[in-house]
Amino acid sequence: MNWEKGELLYEGKAKKIYATQDPDYLIAEFKDALTAFDGGMKAELSSKGEWNNRISSAIMGYLNEQGVNTHFVEAISSHEQVVKKLKMVPLEAVVRNVIAGSLHKRTGLTEGTPLSRPILEYHWKKDELNDPLLTEDLILALMLASEEQLAAFRELAMRVNQVLGPYMDERGILLVDFKLEFGYFRGDELNVGDEVTPDTCRFWNKEDMAKLDKDRFRRKLGNVAEAYQEVLARVTK
Ligand code: ADP
Ligand code: TMP
Ligand code: ASP
Repeated sequence: MNWEKGELLYEGKAKKIYATQDPDYLIAEFKDALTAFDGGMKAELSSKGEWNNRISSAIMGYLNEQGVNTHFVEAISSHEQVVKKLKMVPLEAVVRNVIAGSLHKRTGLTEGTPLSRPILEYHWKKDELNDPLLTEDLILALMLASEEQLAAFRELAMRVNQVLGPYMDERGILLVDFKLEFGYFRGDELNVGDEVTPDTCRFWNKEDMAKLDKDRFRRKLGNVAEAYQEVLARVTK
């Protein structure tokens, strides 16, 4: 298919979203920008858009092959991929296998401690409030989703974890945690949307537990580019 890039529909922190000639599909263009803390920390990183486009393509392509519905259709250039146009759910679903990041801050438990079972938590997509944590009860009370939808989100998020965990493990990477966004294609087909990249996942090198993700930028650890390139090399080899 020869995809035509149409009108710019949305520009976010990490991607630009364009229409195509088919109303059911979009082009996502990955920017060479790095942001953290909802835009409070910003930098340009040459080629980062290309690395994330290729990483998300590899991971979502694999999820699709495993029967896990994602929006990914095909990469069409270094920075661009065609995706199904989804009606997005205004939630971020975070799956955690190991204590890190805000869970460490919230509980005081040691970063790196494995959880006895994976957990799912939701954050409300509201940059101005730094994506606050929501309970399932509050999601229901605010009518952001129904019980049936929450059950479907949980099943899809846990399935992604079950498929992606071993895939990364085989590549020498521990899947510590990750964030997913969901949306509906053509009405009622639930899909994983957005991206699965070192911006949205914690990836730790199994050999030495070195961070291979955006925490290198957030925590000013250096070697950000090297980390993203390492993940790309491992998911495309
Ligand atoms: P943000 O909006 O948080 O700055 P991005 O720069 O990544 O993030 O922008 C991408 C936007 O496109 C997000 O709002 C995301 O929810 C939305 N989005 C991701 N995938 C799809 C899709 N398949 N269909 C429609 N919207 C999508
Ligand atoms: P957290 O520990 O900061 O809550 O992050 C959990 C996971 O979610 C981590 O892999 C990074 C990802 N994440 C995003 O993709 N976007 C965000 O806005 C936040 C806060 C986290
Ligand atoms: N708040 C998120 C982070 O720290 C995303 C962002 O601001 O781009 O990763």
